[in-house]
Amino acid sequence: MAILVCGGAGYIGSHTVRQLLEAGEEVVIADNLSTGHRAALSPAVKFYECDIRDKDVLKKIFAENKIEAVFHFAAYIEAGESVIKPLKYFNNNVYGMQVLLEAMTECGVDKIIFSSSAAVYGEPERIPIDEGDKTFPTNPYGETKLIMETIMRWVGAAHGVRYVSLRYFNASGAIEDGSIGEDHHPETHLIPLILQVPLGKRDHITIFGTDYPTPDGTCIRDYIHVVDLASAHLCALNYLRGGGESNHFNLGSGSGFSVKQIIDAAQKVTGQKIKTELGDRRAGDPARLVASGDKARKILAWAPRFDDVEKIIATAWNWHRTHPKGYDD
Ligand code: UFG
Repeated sequence: MAILVCGGAGYIGSHTVRQLLEAGEEVVIADNLSTGHRAALSPAVKFYECDIRDKDVLKKIFAENKIEAVFHFAAYIEAGESVIKPLKYFNNNVYGMQVLLEAMTECGVDKIIFSSSAAVYGEPERIPIDEGDKTFPTNPYGETKLIMETIMRWVGAAHGVRYVSLRYFNASGAIEDGSIGEDHHPETHLIPLILQVPLGKRDHITIFGTDYPTPDGTCIRDYIHVVDLASAHLCALNYLRGGGESNHFNLGSGSGFSVKQIIDAAQKVTGQKIKTELGDRRAGDPARLVASGDKARKILAWAPRFDDVEKIIATAWNWHRTHPKGYDD
């Protein structure tokens, strides 16, 4: 039987597809290529260019392929944009999940692994953030992810669909051979933006806020390598195959790094001085987001490989310096 990967042409989806194939799994991808890239698709994989809000096409995929489980990466991800265009997010993310689950239940597919986010917690009550902590999103993006989890919970109770929701912290890095990587338009994430400076694509990086209550005044985040995020999905699949009940897990390293520390690490990795400017805070940015990752390690037997932020940045640099225009190169 095959795994249907919705959003398999995107950043985290494409890395997960690689690992599924390496593990000998059969994979089918559904992606509307609105943010994903055709060049990120693995050639050996059956690909449907389609939108998950189209139930007829989903049911066709389920009819044409024996699908054991769905991996759901097909969602919009920009917190800032979601504040300006909330309905865009509710439509694609929430309605997309509804249609996907309708098609799954109508076609008897009963396992789903879902890309959730640390954004479901909003401003954390304590650090590290534990899965039992309060969820109170501070932007529509995080709200959609929380609602998507809620929909899965009720659909699970009514129809027996089991799910694993993986709450990613800051996804970063690229596969070590540099063949696929991060390519967002526009790019808003810290590490790729920093690396645009040594690539000559940007004059400087602006540090959003230097007056946070952190040791150096800049925001602290938990950077987790995309290859480790991908491996967590395979662990989650094994967990569900073994009869595990529906559950949600943080995916983070458990270590926090400030914006200034990330810039210093990028200077070491690239061997170049990275010019910075001090800017205002970006609206909605919590001072600190660091995961407690113990639950995934214990219950999913997840063993992340990357524990060093310089090594993570080195893999991102390997991708960006060889693909300065992303997949357009
Ligand atoms: N930052 C800068 N300058 C920039 C860009 C970012 O200083 O030019 C700072 C941000 O203010 C933040 C940190 O770098 O403090 C990381 O910012 P990112 O935009 O890379 O990531 P976020 O932490 O804002 O968000 C990411 C994902 C979200 C997810 C969240 C969960 O993009 O989808 O992690 O932790 F919800």
